[in-house]
Amino acid sequence: MTSAATRETPWRATQHRAPLLSVRDLVVHFPVRKSLFGRPRGVVRAVDGVSFDVFPGETLALVGESGCGKTTTGRAVLRLIEATSGSITFEGVDVRALGREPLRRLRRQMQIVFQDPYASLNPRMTVGAAIREGLIIHRLAEGAEAHARVRRLLDEVGLRAEHASRYPHELSGGQRQRVGIARALAVEPRFIVCDEPVSALDVSVQAQVVNLLQDLQRQRGLAYLFIAHDLSVVEHVADRIAVMYLGHIVETAPGRALYGEPLMPYTQALLSAVPVPDPTVRRARIVLAGDVPSPVDPPPGCVFNPRCHHPARDAACTKIAPPLEPKGRLSESGQDPDREHLVACIKQPPTRVSWEDQRAAGATQEPMLHQPGLRGR
Ligand SMILES: Nc1ncnc2c1ncn2[C@@H]1O[C@H](COP(=O)(O)OP(=O)(O)O)[C@@H](O)[C@H]1O
Ligand code: SF4
Ligand SMILES: [Mg+2]
Repeated sequence: MTSAATRETPWRATQHRAPLLSVRDLVVHFPVRKSLFGRPRGVVRAVDGVSFDVFPGETLALVGESGCGKTTTGRAVLRLIEATSGSITFEGVDVRALGREPLRRLRRQMQIVFQDPYASLNPRMTVGAAIREGLIIHRLAEGAEAHARVRRLLDEVGLRAEHASRYPHELSGGQRQRVGIARALAVEPRFIVCDEPVSALDVSVQAQVVNLLQDLQRQRGLAYLFIAHDLSVVEHVADRIAVMYLGHIVETAPGRALYGEPLMPYTQALLSAVPVPDPTVRRARIVLAGDVPSPVDPPPGCVFNPRCHHPARDAACTKIAPPLEPKGRLSESGQDPDREHLVACIKQPPTRVSWEDQRAAGATQEPMLHQPGLRGR
């Protein structure tokens, strides 16, 4: 995986294009059941104020360790679960305000490919029936036309016509995920949440499924929110990347900027774990102390503070919630919405959290650029 292979959105006449999907301050809290003794245990702050855009035809990767809120974000966007607060706008439509029928119509535009293709398919339904379901629900085709469309979709995802009469248990994991993709495609969406679509697959077939998703994106002009738990899978897939930690987006940038100039200490640690194929390049592995804290009781201030390796980390990090703000070389050249490099860290300069405010919060260490050598270049 060389950086040359990183996808890059060309500097082009898309600078003022409107996002397909805009998410602002999305919060999803799950109430925790009362304990055995009846005391309320509070809420799981699964997603705690997340904002991002997805532009037409692009892939935004959402990356972070298990439990950081990726699936909850993806499902809340599609309203498979209801958000606690925040706004979700798809092509100018306020998704959270939609009633049942308009939401059903919108679902044609917004689909999901699930992490576990077996669990997401009905074991008693043939592949053909599973793919046809969406066509019928959305009244797109019936009878012979529906069967013909299913055959075309099977072909498009690399399966054969005879797979239509098979049941999910007769297929391999990779084939099942191809069925999951065909199901999503059947209704001709513009946007698909791909929730760790290859995590459950053998390494040998992961690349095939990723390539299929990329081919389909090019042919159909699809936009993806591509969820992954590490940075290695998305390097070749993503136009832009958003890194998530404990319910927050902590850094977002075009792929090249994020891999070349990671600035949030958590991103630096995630990236240090990505294997480098070139034996002449060394990368210092940053091992994070401790485990991810519970989202029931997240740390105050910067949620990453108990594990942070930044040399200027101090008491202010436990008091001030860092704003997601422009930093790095990209931000010096002025930013377009689809080329922003935003970082949540009050110790990586520049920051709009003034030194006076940091001092008032107990700071002893002035912000200083910290970029542990991640790539031998
Ligand atoms: N329905 C639910 N009820 C309570 N907690 C939940 C529910 N769904 C997810 N969570 C919790 O929310 C957090 C985020 O979960 P999730 O979005 O699945 O993370 P990820 O996809 O990044 O692994 C986790 O702590 C998880 O246990
Ligand atoms: S704000 Fe402080 S704790 Fe958070 S990433 Fe920056 S240095 Fe680390
Ligand atoms: Mg998940």
